Amino acid sequence: MKIAVFNGSPRKMNTSAMVDAFVAGAREAGHEVEIYQVGRMKIAGCLGCEYCHGKGQGACVQKDDLEKIMPAYREADMIVYASPIYYFAMTAQMYAAMQRVYCIGKPVNAKKAALLLNSYSPNVHSGAIATYKDATAYMGMEDMGIYIFTDADNGNERKLSEITKFAKEL
Ligand SMILES: Cc1cc2nc3c(=O)[nH]c(=O)nc-3n(C[C@H](O)[C@H](O)[C@H](O)COP(=O)(O)O)c2cc1C
Repeated sequence: MKIAVFNGSPRKMNTSAMVDAFVAGAREAGHEVEIYQVGRMKIAGCLGCEYCHGKGQGACVQKDDLEKIMPAYREADMIVYASPIYYFAMTAQMYAAMQRVYCIGKPVNAKKAALLLNSYSPNVHSGAIATYKDATAYMGMEDMGIYIFTDADNGNERKLSEITKFAKEL
């Protein structure tokens, strides 16, 4: 499979460790994996102008880093959304990336998805999980797994190896 991993964190720390664990397993299993550092990209919110559904014929009127993630939306068989929790949600960068798929409606090939979340505290993930579940169901993607780390889990090799095992068995 072609797997696109969206890392919604602007830092190379806790979420990145989860991403690295996933990527190691997926590559070992022979999958082709591309990581998109969405958290460091400049992806604006949708303007709702509908240019994409008219004159733009699928292209957005805003010229920003959306262009960098469009290959994932066009070609990937699976999308992994990985994000820290910022104020009870995925990062704004990740949400913008998720919402701007609107220009083509939904990912062209992706039929599978997974979610990796990292937060300081427990009990702060329900909003992000609900968004992920509703969005992937709408886009016709099967949820393959959800992994949640809090501060107590970071650096825990056993927990990270569960993500690697999950990726290996996809
Ligand atoms: C702006 C901001 C908002 C945050 N909001 C929350 C929050 O609502 N709940 C929580 O448990 N942690 C919150 N955190 C902590 C991060 O989720 C946590 O440190 C996470 O491990 C960061 O992941 P990273 O190292 O990949 O950036 C917040 C951090 C930042 C910078």
